Amino acid sequence: MRVTMFVLAFLGLHLAVGATAILMAKYFTPTLWRSHWGRRVIWGAPLLTLVATILLFLGRWQGLIWIETPMGLLAAALWVSLIAATLVLPISGILRLADWLLKRKSKRNLRDSSDSGANASEEISEELVSPERRYLLMAGATLPALAMTSGVAGVLGSYSSVKVFELPLRFPNLSPDLEGFRILHLCDLHLGLFYTLNNLEELTLELEKEKIDLIVVVGDFADRLDQLPDALRLIAALNPRYGAFATLGNHEYYRGIKQVYRTFNAGPIPLLVNSGEKIQVGASSIYVGGADDPVSMRWGAKYDSFYDETVERSMRDSESESFKLLLTHRPWAFEVAAKSGVDLSLAGHTHGGQVGFMGKSVFDVFNKNSYLWGEFEIGQNKLYTSSGIGHWFPFRLGCPTEAPIITLRKA
Ligand SMILES: [Fe+2]
Repeated sequence: MRVTMFVLAFLGLHLAVGATAILMAKYFTPTLWRSHWGRRVIWGAPLLTLVATILLFLGRWQGLIWIETPMGLLAAALWVSLIAATLVLPISGILRLADWLLKRKSKRNLRDSSDSGANASEEISEELVSPERRYLLMAGATLPALAMTSGVAGVLGSYSSVKVFELPLRFPNLSPDLEGFRILHLCDLHLGLFYTLNNLEELTLELEKEKIDLIVVVGDFADRLDQLPDALRLIAALNPRYGAFATLGNHEYYRGIKQVYRTFNAGPIPLLVNSGEKIQVGASSIYVGGADDPVSMRWGAKYDSFYDETVERSMRDSESESFKLLLTHRPWAFEVAAKSGVDLSLAGHTHGGQVGFMGKSVFDVFNKNSYLWGEFEIGQNKLYTSSGIGHWFPFRLGCPTEAPIITLRKA
């Protein structure tokens, strides 16, 4: 029943997007529609999207990775291009309307100035295109092509290598023992279709040359749980001086929370959920707490009460003199954490909205408290939201995947 509903919903969505794109392309970009190849692309793109998506699902259903992986990439590129083109085609429609108004105006002007009266307008050639009209026609035809190109660029961008970089964060009351302490912040690997164990192995080879004191894995580790044991071993083999800790993301619940617990219990990396651990660093210490994920909350509900409880339980055993570090898959625990005296919260989940500009998520513009990507602070309390290492949908435009190494510094 669920499969039938899913197939019907998918076909409905495809029909709606495909038909809208074809109709808008026909009426808003007539130049493209009249050309032989233009019309082939307009009809072919939705059709190819349907074929690639069906093959992707068949590959996944039959467990054929050699079909699933290329079809996943192709279907993602086509879907993004199709949706991007559909979104900009109304602009082409507006430009077409402006062109029609300009054409009408020039016809009227010519008719008024013509000696031969009303019949002159019939003789005005369609080829009589003013520079303004030429620009409008060109822009109208180019916009959908540009949108489709940026869609493909975004999909290809998701295959660029993970950016490893050092990020110093400053705290006024940092103990001298913690000066220069380096925390590798990993999250949202989404191991499976678009980020594989081979990719993780390549990343760990690159990270081997780094001095790492602590590794944290902040949720959405694997979409293929059979890959989780090997992934845990690969990360633990980096041998950080003070060990590694993980916490849950929503995808751990989606994929099978019982199996996730079993794997972590048998593996080398402790899972912190509503609990914490103290690490002794010289005469000082760091308390690492792991928040739970509010996956069971209904859509649109306020997270505050959930975070009040999970942050309190995660940090309950921390001592006042410890540096307090909270692992929270979603960044929206930050305000509660800051109020509770957590020095540093590390989060992911948002993938930075997967579209960024100048190191910030473009979606942060709409809501300054969305904490989608980067460094944030409330008073002396800090948050870093990583754009993540992987994704469940391969599209990255100006928002590369990343594995920051957070270095604690005294302000
Ligand atoms: Fe997530």
